[in-house]
Amino acid sequence: MKTPSLDQDEPEESVRMNPSQLRSEISVLGDIVYLDAASVCPSPQHVLRAVEAYNRDCPFNYGVGVFAKSMDAARRVDEARASIAGFVGAGDAREIVFTKNTTEAINVVAASVELTAGDEIILTSLEHQSNILPWLRRAEKSGARVQYVEPDANGLIRPAAVEACLSKRTRLVAITHVSNVIGIIQPVTDIAQMVKRASAKVFVDAAQSGGRVPIDVRAIGCDFMVFCGRKSLMGPQGTGFLWGRLEELDRLCPLNIGSRSADLIDSHQWKFTATPHRFEAGVLNTAGVIGLGAAAELLKRIGLDRILQHNRALTARMVEGLASIDGVTIHGPSGTEHQAGIISWSVEGRGAHDVARALDQGGAVAVASGPQGSALAMRHLGVREVVRSSVHYFSSEQDIAALIDGVERIARRA
Ligand SMILES: Cc1ncc(COP(=O)(O)O)c(C=O)c1O
Repeated sequence: MKTPSLDQDEPEESVRMNPSQLRSEISVLGDIVYLDAASVCPSPQHVLRAVEAYNRDCPFNYGVGVFAKSMDAARRVDEARASIAGFVGAGDAREIVFTKNTTEAINVVAASVELTAGDEIILTSLEHQSNILPWLRRAEKSGARVQYVEPDANGLIRPAAVEACLSKRTRLVAITHVSNVIGIIQPVTDIAQMVKRASAKVFVDAAQSGGRVPIDVRAIGCDFMVFCGRKSLMGPQGTGFLWGRLEELDRLCPLNIGSRSADLIDSHQWKFTATPHRFEAGVLNTAGVIGLGAAAELLKRIGLDRILQHNRALTARMVEGLASIDGVTIHGPSGTEHQAGIISWSVEGRGAHDVARALDQGGAVAVASGPQGSALAMRHLGVREVVRSSVHYFSSEQDIAALIDGVERIARRA
């Protein structure tokens, strides 16, 4: 069968890729049983073609040249920004700030959002350390205080638990949309509604949910949301972005300053350019953001509801299969009602890296192992490390069967 492409003259129906068609677009996966989608999802051909076309046809800077090929590069970047804005439901493409990863996007906000001594920031113990460290440093500098909310037995951060921590001094709540350890989709819309009533800001880390879960930033009602390009968005390495309400972005002070983000007025005076450019000092990762725009288009055409449904069904099989093996413990909730496709587990008597290596050697099964940059989540689960298996739309039932088969053999030998 012809692999669907997203070329403009293709009718929409023919680009509704199914999972195996998407997989065949990612040649590097070959015969690997790839279950580490929460770390990286290699880009499909559609994304690689957009990157290659830029590099071949107009590998020039964004926003300076006026010659035709430079304008062509600028048009592709503007289109990527608009595609990404549409993908997350932003009202205005100016609300999309390109960054090199999620961590940088978090730092942009944490470094300058309004905070003074005695103010409070609420985090959760499910956060990746990239959504803890920038806040801790800012708290140290500003004299603000950080508090943590714990998830319930279902891995959910309950709005009531956040509410219990709110005070008159709470300025911001930063929460992960989907935990990189237990894969649970958090009720960020309910949390945002409640936090906004208390006049605090809501910051959502969508590093894992972007590309896995339908997202509409306006409907969620948060102030900032940060995304990773290389994970489930299937964009190029070194890409990410920050979405913020325009008025909130305008209140922040960019981390970097230089060409494009500011203009010299005379030898001692300068002024910032407008949002989003004032956050994007220097030359962009032009090829990367164009690839990310193409990835957003591809995901939109596949449909986030279909992706979520597929990933949830595979996760249910993974949980059922692994839970039936003697000596395997699934960490976190075993229900898959709120799952986005990421689970963590361990095999009694075997270290996480040891299990991951044995899976790789025994059948080219690729999983993640270790604390996943989430020491507080490990402490919450009562472990030091985990094996993590995560799926995406290109994953198949055969992948899950190979994982279960491999873990069964490892557990028997443990
Ligand atoms: C939930 C979460 N937040 C933040 C990050 C950091 O992302 P990046 O490597 O894009 O900076 C990760 C990376 O694994 C993550 O899973």
